Amino acid sequence: MRVSYQSEIELRPGTVLLEVGCGTGPVSRALAQLRTDCQVFGLDPSPFFLTTARRLAEGIANLQFRQGDARHLPFDPGTFDVLVFTPPFATCLPLTRPWPRPIAFCVPEDSW
Ligand SMILES: C[S@@+](CC[C@H](N)C(=O)[O-])C[C@H]1O[C@@H](n2cnc3c(N)ncnc32)[C@H](O)[C@@H]1O
Repeated sequence: MRVSYQSEIELRPGTVLLEVGCGTGPVSRALAQLRTDCQVFGLDPSPFFLTTARRLAEGIANLQFRQGDARHLPFDPGTFDVLVFTPPFATCLPLTRPWPRPIAFCVPEDSW
């Protein structure tokens, strides 16, 4: 699944990326380490997962995690260039909100 994510995302220097439903953060970590010139955020509602995600991401300067729900993203619409999420979240992300910058919605083909 991680290979699909990375191969489908066009990342440029300065890209700000949000992974929705990051869990313990393996995808967010891989992306942040792949492109240290980008900023990566991981969002998940589970404080348990986020505690582990933050521990495993210690030392990765361009990665941070926030607690939140895909249905009510706790960010301004213009914050991100790229959203990464698995198919279930496509039904609950607030995609009808006005996003001032282009956003790539990347859905891996081989995810659950
Ligand atoms: C199957 S895990 C995937 C974790 C990670 N993306 C990965 O590839 O390892 C799904 C994650 O979605 C999170 N989740 C469930 N409901 C959510 C919601 N409403 N908004 C955001 N994340 C949610 C769960 O807490 C869980 O960590």
